[in-house]
Amino acid sequence: MKTFSQYLMVHSQENHIPKELISTVESIIIACKQISRNVRLGALSGVLGEAGTGNIQGEAQKKLDVIANQILIDTLRTNPNVAGLASEEEDNFVAANEQGGYLVLFDPLDGSSNIDVNISIGTIFSVLLKPSGSLKTESFLQKGSEQVAAGYVLYGVQTLLVLTFKHGVHVFTLNEQGEFIETKSLPQIPEQTAEFAINASNQRHWEQPIQKYINELLAGEDGVREKNYNMRWVASMVAEVHRILMRGGVFLYPKDNRDPSKAGKLRLMYEANPLGLVVEQAGGKITNSRENMLEIQPTGLHQRVAVVLGSAEEVGHVRELHI
Ligand code: AHG
Ligand code: MN
Ligand code: MN
Ligand code: MN
Repeated sequence: MKTFSQYLMVHSQENHIPKELISTVESIIIACKQISRNVRLGALSGVLGEAGTGNIQGEAQKKLDVIANQILIDTLRTNPNVAGLASEEEDNFVAANEQGGYLVLFDPLDGSSNIDVNISIGTIFSVLLKPSGSLKTESFLQKGSEQVAAGYVLYGVQTLLVLTFKHGVHVFTLNEQGEFIETKSLPQIPEQTAEFAINASNQRHWEQPIQKYINELLAGEDGVREKNYNMRWVASMVAEVHRILMRGGVFLYPKDNRDPSKAGKLRLMYEANPLGLVVEQAGGKITNSRENMLEIQPTGLHQRVAVVLGSAEEVGHVRELHI
């Protein structure tokens, strides 16, 4: 079994990955290990509960949202290869090092509502090349297909790192010595599945094609899909994606008619794009219901999108229902 450092050495040589990009990802992982130590101790380190502040998304921040965000910013800023950062918890991008060639975007803590109840949460990250010229918001507004690396660290029953440099996906488990060890390489999301994930409490606010799709699944073997489906909902997207990566499934967070922009809840730059790259690199698909997620031209750092991802057959079927 390879350690993370051994994997980086071999994988970067085989795939000609620049050392500056490797160093950027190493900094992200150093920060995530520090976040993991805080998560593990929970109440013992006083990190649970509300921060008493809000973020630009209009959400109440938990203490760990704020702590994780600060750890990532402090760690990444010291890396000369990092030109700038953008985070779910920051109103604007954060400039780092002028000479840096990379931009890092992150959801420091995904699944905030699960922090205080000891259910899996994670950190999601995305790395882009910094375009030439001075750093501005537009520098970050690149399509998901432009990402040069993406992944997540899942603080679950085990702490796992899932990473892609666009040459497949690699999975690492944190050992007792605090070192990530490669425990799975090139996982493939099965094309077909009988498992779906959606927050059904929003059912009355969904658009017609999603209503139709979920009704088909609920009808089971008596309906047009002619098979029985099972349902799961963790309420941490990062954990749902990991389940789908390991055994298939489809995850949906559709548009909601209550939202004036009707764009959905999840964030394109911090959630959909990085998790989408992992899913695509493992043979799955991701869409906003109508277009390939990774081909959407972003218009804002905090832009929200509808998300449908996972097993190719189901994602394809949802797209067909939207034509
Ligand atoms: P975050 O904690 O980063 O704000 O994201 C939470 C997201 C996502 O992880 C999850 O799938 C979804 O919100 C859960 O939403 P509901 O509370 O509507 O189930
Ligand atoms: Mn949030
Ligand atoms: Mn999130
Ligand atoms: Mn978050």
